[in-house]
Amino acid sequence: MRVGVHGATGRMGRLVLAEVLAARDLALHAAVTHPASSLVGVDAGELAGAGATGTTLSADPAVLRGADVIVDFSHPTALPALLTAVDGTALISGTTGLDRAGEALIADYATRAPVLRADNFSTGVAVLRHVVRQAAALLPEWDAEIVEAHHSRKVDSPSGTARALIQSIEAGRGAPAHHVHGREGIVGARPTGDIGVHALRLGDVIGEHTVSFGGSGEVVHLGHTAVERRVFAVGAVRAARWLAGRPTGGYRFAQVVGLEPTPSA
Ligand SMILES: NC(=O)c1ccc[n+]([C@@H]2O[C@H](COP(=O)([O-])OP(=O)(O)OC[C@H]3O[C@@H](n4cnc5c(N)ncnc54)[C@H](OP(=O)(O)O)[C@@H]3O)[C@@H](O)[C@H]2O)c1
Repeated sequence: MRVGVHGATGRMGRLVLAEVLAARDLALHAAVTHPASSLVGVDAGELAGAGATGTTLSADPAVLRGADVIVDFSHPTALPALLTAVDGTALISGTTGLDRAGEALIADYATRAPVLRADNFSTGVAVLRHVVRQAAALLPEWDAEIVEAHHSRKVDSPSGTARALIQSIEAGRGAPAHHVHGREGIVGARPTGDIGVHALRLGDVIGEHTVSFGGSGEVVHLGHTAVERRVFAVGAVRAARWLAGRPTGGYRFAQVVGLEPTPSA
């Protein structure tokens, strides 16, 4: 199976390259980075610490055409050029911070290719979302607050995973909620039903999420800590194997890990 890597020079891209190059059943089709990157022309394997491969980093997303699947961890602004260049190729995307237009672009691409976009490719977070949904259904009147922590270089806030956890709470309650991002000043008593979201940006933290439910006289905390960034690359490559060859459409990581059924072809 031939895998194309987009955003290949980034923290995640290098880890995806390393996973692809280490796997016997996968071959690196092409690796693409930012057009202005000084790493264009560098051997992708050397960048990933896996030795020379003969595949050099390109600035042209069109070289990803012909891959069985593309794995993307880049930037929302990179997606329009990528999707135009590789129309029809299966796509795994972990890029976060998409606005409505970006989400619509991905949804439109899913009418022409199999697509799986996820804010978090860790199995543990997939299970956390599942458990949070159940807890929210069982504790519908309780206050719900999310605290997330990430490294200081992260550009979007709150994290895509925090947004996904909001969706899990709302799905469990069966109703949308008002979201409160941080609090300051005389904000008054907490309205019932709000979901509070708080983003910490600290040093090298890879990713921590805690969802707390507060009731009368007790609090429940459900949480996840990513100990190694590699866990996201492993999950994305697992998803890539799962997605390649599937029919056109949008898929979810929860289907890859067996938490949700996959529609039959
Ligand atoms: N879903 C998940 O499980 C998960 C896990 C971790 C991270 N993420 C997300 O994945 C994304 C990347 O994270 P990261 O930590 O790897 O970031 P990063 O180190 O900044 O890497 C971003 C990569 O995208 C490239 N890029 C930026 N703009 C581009 C453009 N216009 N065209 C082509 N390439 C472009 C960068 O190239 P230059 O270096 O040359 O700018 C770099 O190779 C972020 O959105 C992050 O939140 C998701």
